Amino acid sequence: MTITAERSGQFALGDRLANRLGYGTMRLTGPDAAGRPPPDRTTTIAVLRRAVDLGVDHIDTGDYEGPHKVTDLIRKALHPYPVELTITVDVGARWTTEGRWVQALSSDDLGRAVQDHLVHLGVDVLDVVNLRMPGFPEPVEQSLAEPMETLAALQQQGLIRHLGVSNVTTQGFAEAEAIARIVCVQNHYDVTHRHDDPLVDALARLGIPFVACSPLGGFPPIQAPGLARVAAVLETTETEVALTWLLARSPNILPIPSTRAVAHLEQNLEAGARVLGPVELEALDRIGSVVGPEEDL
Ligand SMILES: NC(=O)c1ccc[n+]([C@@H]2O[C@H](COP(=O)([O-])OP(=O)(O)OC[C@H]3O[C@@H](n4cnc5c(N)ncnc54)[C@H](OP(=O)(O)O)[C@@H]3O)[C@@H](O)[C@H]2O)c1
Repeated sequence: MTITAERSGQFALGDRLANRLGYGTMRLTGPDAAGRPPPDRTTTIAVLRRAVDLGVDHIDTGDYEGPHKVTDLIRKALHPYPVELTITVDVGARWTTEGRWVQALSSDDLGRAVQDHLVHLGVDVLDVVNLRMPGFPEPVEQSLAEPMETLAALQQQGLIRHLGVSNVTTQGFAEAEAIARIVCVQNHYDVTHRHDDPLVDALARLGIPFVACSPLGGFPPIQAPGLARVAAVLETTETEVALTWLLARSPNILPIPSTRAVAHLEQNLEAGARVLGPVELEALDRIGSVVGPEEDL
């Protein structure tokens, strides 16, 4: 079977159609994603190039990658960028050079982050900038008006093509939309973590992508007996089932799994070619405890 992200289907992201299975760069900085330098530059570049070769046209990166600038490696691996590639950049929090995780939502912080990404990615305009609010993995009610207005002004200056938001509630999304057009929402969502079910459906009705961050549950990846049972029945891995479930859940979900391993990247893209039957889907739905407690498949 040919592995390609195209098998996962497509959904509009800004002014392009993106293959639904994308790629997040966070784990390139090491297993704990704590802003350290990528442990192996050669493998990092190989993973990024393999992703694009296999049809990944949506890569998510950001200041949470740390001061060592994974963006430099993205540029080294992929510049000049294919026209169909959308690189989304998350701003609003960052690792300091001393290894501290800090919020960075002031106008100065956001302006600096945008300039930084332009320079390190080697572009004149950023495809999509997501305002990343505090509140991962559970978004909290808080006003995002001030930082959103800053990003809208940077967009008007021509530095940003599209804007998105991350770690927001339905109300936060509405507040952002009142300030600027929002082309994607990126929140934590996986088969066991379905707090955002109503937001997924609301965005689907509006034709807006819900980008599922940490779609495998982060580190360590999701472990749930129900997931293991479905994977065993289908003779595949739990991670593949978790991604296939996300693709089946709603057409506007774009998962961005992260990995430092080419083999895992390839396995993840295989999820796009798999189809879950009604029995498996029902069993997986129960894991998120929306329907009820887990039962045997
Ligand atoms: N906006 C936000 O607040 C926010 C927060 C968190 C994440 N994100 C975004 O979401 C992306 C993904 O998040 P994440 O890295 O936390 O979580 P994730 O993609 O759910 O999980 C990554 C973990 O799964 C492992 N993995 C990946 N593919 C695998 C496979 N086929 N088999 C076994 N293990 C596999 C990776 O290890 P290996 O490297 O060994 O494969 C890594 O430990 C990030 O890159 C970032 O873009 C955004």
